Amino acid sequence: MAFQRFKAAYRSLFFPEPVKPPYLHICQIGDPVLRAPAQPVPPDLIHSPEIKQILLQMRQVMKKYDSVGLAAPQIGIPLRILLLEFSLKRKKQFGEEVYAAREMSLLPLMTVINPEMKVDDYKKLEFPESCESVRGYSAVVPRYRAVTLTGLNEEGESLKLQSTGWTARIIQHEMEHLDGKLFIDSMISKTFQNDAWHRINVHQGRVQIQFYVK
Ligand code: CO
Repeated sequence: MAFQRFKAAYRSLFFPEPVKPPYLHICQIGDPVLRAPAQPVPPDLIHSPEIKQILLQMRQVMKKYDSVGLAAPQIGIPLRILLLEFSLKRKKQFGEEVYAAREMSLLPLMTVINPEMKVDDYKKLEFPESCESVRGYSAVVPRYRAVTLTGLNEEGESLKLQSTGWTARIIQHEMEHLDGKLFIDSMISKTFQNDAWHRINVHQGRVQIQFYVK
């Protein structure tokens, strides 16, 4: 028995058990969880320890990766939950000119369970967009100018958010995650780019895509 235990311990050094979802990292394109339709959260389970843990980890990952949005499938959980946020720090990163041109607005951190989206303005705006699950790349994606999002907050109470411009874009992007879609399915394909293309030339190819953020 001691030998069996030793063998198992020795083996785990070289073949570690895969970590189980909810992850503290973001799944990458190719992972089937990003392509499967996510299931609604049964309302009576919103206060369960399991859902609370998923919400907690989604917030941790969102903060760690400094994202504007996160859908539960991105941490390996096929449930209809998303987070949205547009902070003052983000506004400063973009600068006043881009902030105005892309119709951005501030949005405090918001949790939406079982979200539903209604299009209010079918006019499409074309701006570049990226996704933590397609790390290192971006593309221009046409998105509806205005949408209304409804759903439940983390307390299970109804919420409603009317949005335009960039917030509407973030919502459409995150809603697609819940239906197994990624921005590459809606992008103008010729605009798809590796965001490091210029650095790759400067550094003679010695550039890495990081899949982990401390
Ligand atoms: Co995404």
